[in-house]
Amino acid sequence: MTHRTAIPFPDGFLWGASTAGHQIEGNNVNSDWWRKEHDPAAGIEEPSLDACDSYHRWDEDMDLLAELGFTDYRFGIEWSRIEPVPGTFSRAEIAHYRRMVEGALARGLRPMVTLHHFTVPQWFEDLGGWTADGAVDLFVRYVEQCAPIIADGVPYVCTINEPNMIAVMAGAAKAGDQGFPPAGLPTPDEETTHAVVAAHHAAVKALRGKHPDIKVGWTVANQVYQALPGAEQVTADYRHPREDVFIEAARGDDWIGVQSYTRTKIGADGPIPAPEDAERTLTQWEYYPAAVGHALRHTAAVIGDDTPLIVTENGIATADDTRRVDYYAGALDAVAACLDDGLNVRGYLAWSALDNYEWGSYRPTFGLIAVDPVTFARMAKPSAEWLGSLGRERALPRAGA
Ligand code: BGC
Repeated sequence: MTHRTAIPFPDGFLWGASTAGHQIEGNNVNSDWWRKEHDPAAGIEEPSLDACDSYHRWDEDMDLLAELGFTDYRFGIEWSRIEPVPGTFSRAEIAHYRRMVEGALARGLRPMVTLHHFTVPQWFEDLGGWTADGAVDLFVRYVEQCAPIIADGVPYVCTINEPNMIAVMAGAAKAGDQGFPPAGLPTPDEETTHAVVAAHHAAVKALRGKHPDIKVGWTVANQVYQALPGAEQVTADYRHPREDVFIEAARGDDWIGVQSYTRTKIGADGPIPAPEDAERTLTQWEYYPAAVGHALRHTAAVIGDDTPLIVTENGIATADDTRRVDYYAGALDAVAACLDDGLNVRGYLAWSALDNYEWGSYRPTFGLIAVDPVTFARMAKPSAEWLGSLGRERALPRAGA
């Protein structure tokens, strides 16, 4: 049965956009990424520098999101600012992030706080990163020190963003030049997988002990692996260490974040690059708005029906904002179809609120809001107006409706 009418948001549905500290704050000088960005051997295209200056302009970001019609804002806090040297916690930075939480609430935006989004303090990396002895305890100590930020008014906390990409990046680093294949992802580093899963479980326990009302989860990158006929088992085996292990590790959490952008086809010999004539985005990924629907269905199949699913990232890097609207229309149609089919989808957060630092370059623009690199002036794009208006209507459109 196909409904072609808009479907109302389920009660409490999250409707918003996501960001990450390092990608928008600027001058995150104590993080491992800052050092990497300034190391010629790392081969990074350009450094983050001031980013969007959201460290100082977070209020402008939130004003815009709330005015546009969004009700939720996912943002990250930076471990390296909060704990610039091991064991020393900055009261000023904790107060800064608490002001952000209160600023969101004052504007009618429910905050979802990400405790870790790819970056770690330089000192943590120097100790050996996630696989070093004691790494899990160090993470939990940081999480416990974040209590004043999240103690009141924060309904959702994400412990670690895309742990599967952390393991994949560690695998790529170990493999050296053989790191990234032309299609698909490198083999994740198993030790890193175990470490981040352990860190998540320990953080969930610590958070539940202190903040029983907060809903805790993590977010998993979903590549929407699609098997060519006959390659079903190859696909399942390929996907398991890159994705399913991390979804399984979220069983028992309060929710799971689903993040998807494109798809990867798999044949008998593994991943197959998208055809030459496929439409590609500024990240060179195949344009495939239906990805999010597949990602939601796969996540539900692995984790089970009870765990609420929240789309915590979904979007497109493009200079053509009309194409961004097309992408979101296609993606939301897929989300609406999942709701029609009874999936437990509780929210949709677009990636990203702002044109930001895309891990090495400012070129791929994912933002609903443009940022002038010199004045930092923000300007909402038509896609932002459109998505925001759906928040005011509290309904998801169906394609053709
Ligand atoms: C990450 C974001 C990133 C986005 C687009 C996700 O992997 O969580 O930090 O900017 O995808 O690449």
